[in-house]
Amino acid sequence: MCGIIARAGRGDAVPLVLSGLENLEYRGYDSAGVAVRNGDGIDVYKRSGEVSELSAQIRDGVASGNVGIGHTRWSTHGPPTDANAHPHTDGDGEVAVVHNGIIENHEALRERLADLGCEFTSDTDTEVVPHLFEHYLERSEDAEAAFRRTVRDLEGSYAIAAIVDGEEAVYGARQGSPLVLGVAGSEYFLASDVPAFLEHTDTVVYLEDDDVAVLRPDSVGVTDLDGGDVARDTEHVDWDPEETGKGKYSHYMLKEINVQPTSLANTIEGRIDAEDGEVSLEEFPPGAFEGVSEVQLVACGTSYHAALYGQQLLQSAGINASAYRASEYGTADVPVTERTLVIGVTQSGETADTLGAIRRATDRGARTLAVTNVVGSTAARECDDALFIRAGPEIGVAATKTFTSQAVTLALLARRLAVDVPHGDPRDDFEAVAKSLERLPDALDRMLSASDAREVGRHYLGSDAFFFIGRGRCYPVALEGALKFKEITYEHAEGFASGELKHGPLSLVTPNTPVFAVFGGDQDEKTLKNASEAQTRGADVVAVASQGHPAVDAADAHLTVPDVHPVWAGLLANVQLQLVSYHTANQLDRAIDKPRNLAKSVTVE
Ligand code: G6P
Repeated sequence: MCGIIARAGRGDAVPLVLSGLENLEYRGYDSAGVAVRNGDGIDVYKRSGEVSELSAQIRDGVASGNVGIGHTRWSTHGPPTDANAHPHTDGDGEVAVVHNGIIENHEALRERLADLGCEFTSDTDTEVVPHLFEHYLERSEDAEAAFRRTVRDLEGSYAIAAIVDGEEAVYGARQGSPLVLGVAGSEYFLASDVPAFLEHTDTVVYLEDDDVAVLRPDSVGVTDLDGGDVARDTEHVDWDPEETGKGKYSHYMLKEINVQPTSLANTIEGRIDAEDGEVSLEEFPPGAFEGVSEVQLVACGTSYHAALYGQQLLQSAGINASAYRASEYGTADVPVTERTLVIGVTQSGETADTLGAIRRATDRGARTLAVTNVVGSTAARECDDALFIRAGPEIGVAATKTFTSQAVTLALLARRLAVDVPHGDPRDDFEAVAKSLERLPDALDRMLSASDAREVGRHYLGSDAFFFIGRGRCYPVALEGALKFKEITYEHAEGFASGELKHGPLSLVTPNTPVFAVFGGDQDEKTLKNASEAQTRGADVVAVASQGHPAVDAADAHLTVPDVHPVWAGLLANVQLQLVSYHTANQLDRAIDKPRNLAKSVTVE
């Protein structure tokens, strides 16, 4: 995934483009670049490495202009070199282009353009775009028409922004990759995601596939590929610009772990009535799910672990539910009918594997629902329905607060489904579950301020590997604990179903492989036995459990989880594990918010 930003307005665009890129760096940080129309032509600054390095380079140079574009890259075609960094230009430097996505017919276009005498200087698919644009500029009466002809030749997925020498304008288009227009009075932005310009405006227009936007310093127009006017709704984003900064925290991840009492409160606000123990989801009035007989959840990474958690809750509410890794969903011919509800669980709403699974389900007649954090995302737009987790922007690459909000949203959905679907079996004790959920943000707050995760992390620094075990609802928590740990510490970590440890992984257990055991009320006595099997082989066991839990005395170390309803205990345990990962990575001096080789959302399969 890459991030693009463009700005047209009065005054210098460069600082705005650079700060937008910093806010988009979670989308990729292999290289960064900007291009600006400076009056005499187009200046391009680009290099491998992070935006801060580019900013330092630009401070030493002179770059200014009221129209500019920028890009931050997660490499797909070609290694992260200076030459492969965006913006890309045509041979004469008359056109500069930034692009997120993949131009699938780039080889054919490259051959065609090479035959016309174009010379290429990078390995990227993107470089065909400026050459093509320049080719049509020579043959069109105006740049806008040339841009449309360019876009019509492209196949694949793209969000593009381009500038042209001699034109005070930014040209933008999208097909399958996100692109949102920001309107700040008579200043306009175009970006992959709202945080890029949120500090300047919360007024946005989500562009649709085949839209072409032209931004000038005092006007903006959206048309279709034939130049016909297109009317798009203007919306207001209710994210606070403060939410996109690090605030007093040293890392976004630490901030996002610590704001969970608030983000979780936002997730549940107005959605539960603890008095009568009912869930009300504005989007889904009673009866909204009648006709659904089965639920399939599709997701990747951390979202898949939230989906597994949701699967458990749906199953215990009598609903036939299965969670699939989205990348595997299409490889088996998973049966789908028009009574199947396929839920895409995706923080960004842009993960290609998840979108692929949703599209497959749609083709086969299933009803689809996106559980996502991003209003206007592709998943939200392509699914029949969307339910927003309302966690606020998440910038750290390692997902934290969105896991908690996704899991809780799925729990609320499970309740609604259990009431609606014919064979659903709503839990009798839901009133207690709902009451405990209302108190969960406070419990989380208390736990965060008293956590021993830093000390535990320090104690086990230098271990050979780190294992995480859990059963039932705590199994996805064990998987998520291990994923978080490996993502940001680069240490070997694995999560297992507690009962599976003895069926193979136990051979890896030594005195130098601590085992984090998660206890949340799902047959804890069995997990305790599994933990002691590891202890017998010399491993230390860290119990993640409530105070007074039998596991605490048996374990070598303890991370305390407040007493809450067992339905939620795993979610609190997960936050303790997020903190262990964070503090371990911090002590190892890792790039916590931008772990190597990763991107926040991956828009290629
Ligand atoms: C990437 C990220 C993961 C994330 C996954 C799914 O692999 O590195 O942290 O969980 O994508 O992202 P999504 O936006 O679909 O939840």
